[in-house]
This record gives sequence, structure tokens and C-alpha cells, in this order.
Amino acid sequence: MSITAQLIAASAQRQIGYVIAGIVLLAMVIYWIFNWLDGRHETGAEVELAANRNINMTDEEMETKRLDLSLTGGLLTLTVIAIALPLYWLGEPGRHEGLIEFTDDQFVRQGEELFAENCAQCHGSANGEGGVAADFAIVDGNGVYVDQVQWGAPSLAAVLDRFSYDEVKYILNYGRSNSPMPAWGAPGGGPMTDQQIDKVIAYLAHEQQSSEDIAKGVLDGLDGAALAKAQADNPDMYARQLELADMVAVASDNLSRLDADSADAAALQAEIDTMLEEHGSIIDELAALGADIRTAADSDQIVMGELLFNNPASAGAYGCARCHSAGWSYSANDFPTNPLIPPIVNGSGGFAPGLVGVSDQFEDAADQASFITQGSKNGQAYGAFGQGDGGGQMPGFGACWAEDNAILPRIQSDRIEGHCEGRSGILTTEQIEAIVAYERSLD
Ligand code: HEC
Ligand code: HEC
Repeated sequence: MSITAQLIAASAQRQIGYVIAGIVLLAMVIYWIFNWLDGRHETGAEVELAANRNINMTDEEMETKRLDLSLTGGLLTLTVIAIALPLYWLGEPGRHEGLIEFTDDQFVRQGEELFAENCAQCHGSANGEGGVAADFAIVDGNGVYVDQVQWGAPSLAAVLDRFSYDEVKYILNYGRSNSPMPAWGAPGGGPMTDQQIDKVIAYLAHEQQSSEDIAKGVLDGLDGAALAKAQADNPDMYARQLELADMVAVASDNLSRLDADSADAAALQAEIDTMLEEHGSIIDELAALGADIRTAADSDQIVMGELLFNNPASAGAYGCARCHSAGWSYSANDFPTNPLIPPIVNGSGGFAPGLVGVSDQFEDAADQASFITQGSKNGQAYGAFGQGDGGGQMPGFGACWAEDNAILPRIQSDRIEGHCEGRSGILTTEQIEAIVAYERSLD
């Protein structure tokens, strides 16, 4: 039942209550008035007025008319009770459910407000494509300022597919170190109460995208990943593209200060045109290389794995690079002239461990795929020497499978049940296998 329907139902009940109370009150007043008026006429002697001295009905009257009247009245009252009570009981479970839904709705609604105030500026809308933590200052190992960057904030529209309720709560409580994601919960020194965190997660759960939309989002990201690979594979070309864009911006600025009809302006305009031409041809060339890579991926598992690993869709929500490759989240390749920002090395490790030599960690590819399907669990070691510490922050990318192939309730809360039902996870088995093949090629 919707919140408005709930409110209407609640107020209709209240209105009926008011009407009944009003009738009772009115009856009391009328009775009192009559009683009072009657009292005025009490002028006779007590002997005549005493109730037991009144001449009452005869036995004939009492045993016929009067008795019938009482019996009929009793029967009618019983009938009303016999019908009304079961009717009331029939409605009771629905009313109870409605109340739970109503409080849940309120919970979600309050979570929505908290999200709008605290999260949307970076993550965008809860069911959207993610966003960016704008102008985040990154520092080096010694705390020295390096640059200001735009750090991708992943979409949260599938966050409960990759993390359990408790894992999301852990992230919200403690934030993510060395990233713009701050701690929100009291345990991490943040401003929110435990209940506020629960409300935000309830809202996120309410807004999760369908599995079909997520699967489509994963595939939509592959073109962007292919273009990024073309740029990374041809760093000189890409650096030249960025340089030309800067030069055009500076020259255009200068041009705006020149007299439009002057010879200088004409010469500068010609220079700009030449630069734009070169810029455009590099963009075309890289786009063509990207398209080739995307095509190759369909028949080459390792190439497909690399694209999935670096998937930029929904601000990296479906990929691996944002945690496993330093600099990926702020497009480190876009700073070719800053020596403090090295280009991205795939699987170099960042928030998450580096992946070179990862095959030593797992018995075989299937074992590794199973880990990626389920993710890590807090305090539970994995593989040959995996730690599994820090709240279980390696997401699970497959369906909600438990070890015994039972479906895990990923949202472990009495408020939100059965989230796993009918959900197929973020990546397909084939996609996870492709990523594993790629990861093992990094060794
Ligand atoms: C200042 C920007 C900013 C704000 C505000 C912010 N976040 Fe984040 N959040 C980020 C960034 C950036 C990341 C990714 C960090 C990384 O690259 O490891 C992130 C990561 C997360 C993650 C982990 C997602 C994943 O799959 O790894 C969750 C969950 C999350 N944020 C929830 C929230 C919620 C809920 C709020 C509001 C209470 C919030 N964030 C507020 C920037 C922000
Ligand atoms: C939100 C950040 C995050 C994302 C995204 C992520 N991982 Fe991880 N990954 C981790 C963390 C953290 C660990 C360490 C696990 C632990 O100790 O609990 C890890 C560990 C691993 C390991 C084991 C490495 C080792 O040597 O112990 C593999 C393999 C792995 N991730 C693969 C992937 C793949 C494949 C993807 C993308 C499909 C991915 N990860 C996406 C955070 C992430």
C-alpha cells in the first residue's frame, strides 16, 4: 500500500472514531439535560416518588411484551457482535502488514533525504550512473600535495549485488582510506547514527537497478574501455591529443583578446585550425583503434577480460581497476606532464592488492573465478595467503552463491528480505572467466 493510501486509511479510521465519540458525547449531554429538567418537577412526597412505590407493569405485560422486547434486543446485539468481530479480525493481519510497510516506507523516505543531503553530490542519484568527487586533492606518501583530480564515485545502483548488507554498512561506517569516500558512521568518527546508516542502506536497497539493466550497463561500458585501452596502448598519441586540446584552449583565449579583423587574429586562427585538424585526426585514429579492440574482444577472451577489468561504466561500478590499479579512478593517464602522477599500470594495486603473480594465490583458474564470484568475507582468509581483512571489501561479482551453492541472502536484515531472489549478479560466469584469464596473463 502506498504512503498516501496509508494516510487516507489512517485518517478515515480516525474520523470514524471522532464521529462515534461525538455521538456518545451528544447522547450524554441530552441525557443530562432531560435528567436535569425532570429533577425540577420533583415536588411530591418521598412516599409517592420512591421508585419501588410506583405502580409498575402487570405480570401479564412483563411476561409478554416486555420479555419479547428484551430477548429480541439481546438477539440483535449478539448478531451484531457475531458479525462485526470476525470482520474486524479478518482485517487485522492486513492492518498489521500495512503498518510495517508504512514504517518501512518512512524509513526509506528518511534514507532518501539523508542520501540527497550527504551522498548525491558525489554518487549522483541512487539508481543512476554514478558521479564524481570533484576537485579532490591527492597527496603523495609523505602528505605532499600532488594535484587536484576528479575522482570517480561508483554508481550505487548495484551495490547490494556486490556487497552484503553488513559489508555496505562497514564501508559507510569507516569510509574508504586514501579516497574521497569519508567515514559516515560513529565507529569511524563520522556524523551519522547507526539508525541513520540503516536508513540510507534501506533507501539504497529500494533503488537497486534490475539485473537486466545491470547486465546491459556492463556491456555498454565495453566501448569506453576499448577506447581507453587504445589511448593507454598509444601514450604518445594520447599525450599529443591532450596537449593539442590545451594549446587550442590557450590560443582561443588569446584570439578573443585580438581585434577580430587584424592580420594577427587571422594568423592565430589559421594556427588554431591546423591544431584542431591534428587533434581531430588523432581522435579519429584512436577511435578506430578502439573499435578494432572492441571487435577483437569478441573472439579473444584475454582482451575481453581486460576490457571488463577496466570497465568505466557507472563510474567503474562493474569493473576491477578502480580498486586494483592505482590512479584509475582519477584517470591518471590524463596527466602526462605531471611527473608525480605515473600512468596507470593495470593490476598494479591501489586500495586492493596488486594482481601480478595472483595465480600463486589460487589453486587454479576455477578457484580464482569462485573467489571473484563471491568476494571476500570479513576476517575469513582466502586462497593460499589471502588476508580477508577490512570488512570483506573485495566485492562479489557473481550471483549470490554460497559455498554449498545455496542462495545467500545478501541483505541480511529483518527489514529487507530475499534480495537475492531472482537476481543474477553483476557479471556472467563467462565474463568472470574472461577476467580470470586476463588476470592470469598479467603474471
Ligand atoms: C566526497 C564525495 C563522496 C561523498 C560525499 C560520499 N561518497 Fe561514497 N564514495 C566516494 C568515492 C570517490 C568512492 C570510491 C572510492 C574508491 O575509489 O575506492 C565511494 C565509495 C562508496 C561506496 C563503496 C562502493 C563500492 O562498490 O566500492 C559506498 C557503498 C558509498 N561510497 C556510499 C556512500 C554513501 C551512502 C554516502 C552518503 C552517506 C557517500 N558514499 C558519500 C565519494 C563520496
Ligand atoms: C571495491 C574495491 C574492489 C573492487 C572493485 C575489486 N576488488 Fe578485488 N580485492 C579488493 C580487496 C580489498 C581485496 C583484498 C581482499 C581482502 O583482503 O579481503 C581484493 C582481492 C582480490 C583478489 C585476490 C588478490 C590477492 O592476491 O589476494 C583478486 C584475484 C581480485 N581481488 C580480483 C578482482 C576482480 C577480478 C575484480 C573485478 C571483477 C575486483 N577484484 C574488483 C577490492 C576490490
